[in-house]
Amino acid sequence: MHYPRLPGEKETQATVAGFINHFIRKDLPALNPDHLVLTSGITAAFDALGHVLLNPGEVILAPTPFYYRFPNDFGDRSLVSIEAVDCIDEQLGACLLSVDRFQAVYERLLETGRRAKAIILTNPRNPDGGYHSLEEMKPIAEWAIRHNMTRKRHSSRFTACFADLDSERFVWLWGTSKDLCLPGLRFGVIYMENADIRLSLTTISMFQVPNTLTQFVVRRLLSDYEWFENTFYPENLKRLQKCSAFMVEYLNTIGVRCMPAKSGFFIFADFAQFLDEPTFEAEERLNRRFEANRVILVPGHVCKASKPGWFRIVFTLRDMDELAMGLERICKAVDTPAPTLDGDFRIFIEGKTNGVVNGI
Ligand SMILES: Cc1ncc(COP(=O)(O)O)c(C=O)c1O
Repeated sequence: MHYPRLPGEKETQATVAGFINHFIRKDLPALNPDHLVLTSGITAAFDALGHVLLNPGEVILAPTPFYYRFPNDFGDRSLVSIEAVDCIDEQLGACLLSVDRFQAVYERLLETGRRAKAIILTNPRNPDGGYHSLEEMKPIAEWAIRHNMTRKRHSSRFTACFADLDSERFVWLWGTSKDLCLPGLRFGVIYMENADIRLSLTTISMFQVPNTLTQFVVRRLLSDYEWFENTFYPENLKRLQKCSAFMVEYLNTIGVRCMPAKSGFFIFADFAQFLDEPTFEAEERLNRRFEANRVILVPGHVCKASKPGWFRIVFTLRDMDELAMGLERICKAVDTPAPTLDGDFRIFIEGKTNGVVNGI
């Protein structure tokens, strides 16, 4: 077995580009496979981009709530910091991008002598499963370009949809952890039209290029369109919808609202009413009660939620009974009687599959 070509085997670049063109960019111009840099997952991609695009001490703006590892992925080795842009509309219980909020954080940073050099947008969002529309993102992208920034995105439709904007300033990332439910495979891609940045990424690619065996597996999986379209994707969607709808209905029944989720395998739920006081210390105390009852949730403060009480809950467990058991433990932790699992709930557990119910 040989060392992989940098920044990835040509055959793998072509297979990934083909898959993305077929399933994600159907109505858009085809990707150039040579613009793809292969990485051992998005975590490694963030680390590489932190090294190549920014200097230590520089800042990336990220709308909140955000993926709790952003500060690690960009900060642990590249020493780049993430600055939160509060985008949670508490009244609506939703996340909404706004240029004014980005501008306010940008100016606050300048006052302390720091400059934001990039922004990062994620679709679907982690932790709340929401989705930014193109209309919502475009003003933010235009604003970032006016301020001379680079935009990093998790979505392969972005570049061509904003064809009137400078595409050399966009980087997008995609990986197999979420769409193929294979986080352990450690595979991702960076798509970048700017040749200089691609060259820099290629120069350090030996640190994060996926091994040839992984690339072989990825090629086999991504070239089987029939399996993806007719077996894996519909079954995965059916299971996600079933678990999500059950979970939201259950939480709503005990008076817990959830941010409206359109995608992903987690939900962001508001447990503020169960805090003994409205502080992040109280959120941490509640987090410890969840842990004592053997459920592991992600507390909102690590995702930079602006108000205490939000928790991310992953709902893709082995089966519905296990999910019901987890929810019962949550009820126990907040001292609330668990709903009886009859009627609609029983139907969920036994096979209702359609429709994601929003929690607001
Ligand atoms: C927004 C975001 N970025 C990165 C990652 C990590 O991706 P990978 O497993 O490819 O390193 C995740 C996974 O949870 C994520 O949600």
